[in-house]
Amino acid sequence: MRLGNPTMLASGILGLSAESLGNIVMAGAGAIVTKSVGLKPRNGYANPTIVQTSYGLINAMGLPNPGITEFVKEIHEAKSFGVPVIVSVYGFSAEEYATVAKKAVDAGADAVELNVSCPHVEETGSEIGQNPKILAEVVRKVKASVEKPVFVKLSPNVTNIAEIAEAAAKAGADALTAINTVKAMAIDTETTVPILSNKKGGLSGPAIKPVAVRCVYEIYERVKVPIIGCGGITNWRDAVEFLLAGATAVQIGTAIALKGPNVFKKIKRGINAYLRRKGFKSVNEIVGLSHCS
Ligand SMILES: Cc1cc2nc3c(=O)[nH]c(=O)nc-3n(C[C@H](O)[C@H](O)[C@H](O)COP(=O)(O)O)c2cc1C
Repeated sequence: MRLGNPTMLASGILGLSAESLGNIVMAGAGAIVTKSVGLKPRNGYANPTIVQTSYGLINAMGLPNPGITEFVKEIHEAKSFGVPVIVSVYGFSAEEYATVAKKAVDAGADAVELNVSCPHVEETGSEIGQNPKILAEVVRKVKASVEKPVFVKLSPNVTNIAEIAEAAAKAGADALTAINTVKAMAIDTETTVPILSNKKGGLSGPAIKPVAVRCVYEIYERVKVPIIGCGGITNWRDAVEFLLAGATAVQIGTAIALKGPNVFKKIKRGINAYLRRKGFKSVNEIVGLSHCS
């Protein structure tokens, strides 16, 4: 898959309608990833589903989505924006992942990203992504059902992310996205109870960047499939750090909520200025460069 620039929208932020995806393309994203979509519609959790902290967001949305059958029309429309459309899918079994992925690809998705890393919904997400055997089964089933690239989005909430990455790669993953949110919670000191209705959620934003960079670095040392870095990127220097760690592209989520969609243009320009200043001809020349030292 060729991208006009190495920035992509991360799943779950403004990714539920073609209109909002279009705004992100206008803002300069090289590719867009939709909100995670399942076989059936889901309402998600009751409010509050997001807490803003001084270091990022903690969310437990509960995977609200209209279901793939309804979502197909948004995929059709998003295809007209001229950048690759990656549909994030989840399921409660390998078969379900495969069915949703096939429907997404039939509707025009350029790739699917398997959300095997959502930290706050039971029997899907990280419950799958924490178990190499189950993960490999999901990847194999999806690969057998679609002809387009399959990305696997990994959870940082594991002891050894490189081992999980290797299981996904051996099962046929075409790229690995690292990372999803870090398991977290916040408690209201006045009411004395957890703030999120689901009690626990996932931390995103600047606080998780060092964790995400370390994950990308470890995966790069173990597997040879392309890595998409994600977690806490808010400026061009953050993005370059991920490229040096071994990512070939980056995804941006929370920074859009904190700084607005123009972060894409700023990050894209900043990466180009860095490459020029350092005498590099392309992004490829700096991918994994930190491992050479
Ligand atoms: C409000 C919110 C909703 C999210 N929903 C999804 C989702 O549906 N699927 C998914 O794979 N990741 C989801 N994520 C995780 C992000 O895609 C990303 O992996 C994570 O937030 C780290 O990147 P960031 O710090 O740039 O936000 C969500 C994150 C946030 C903040």
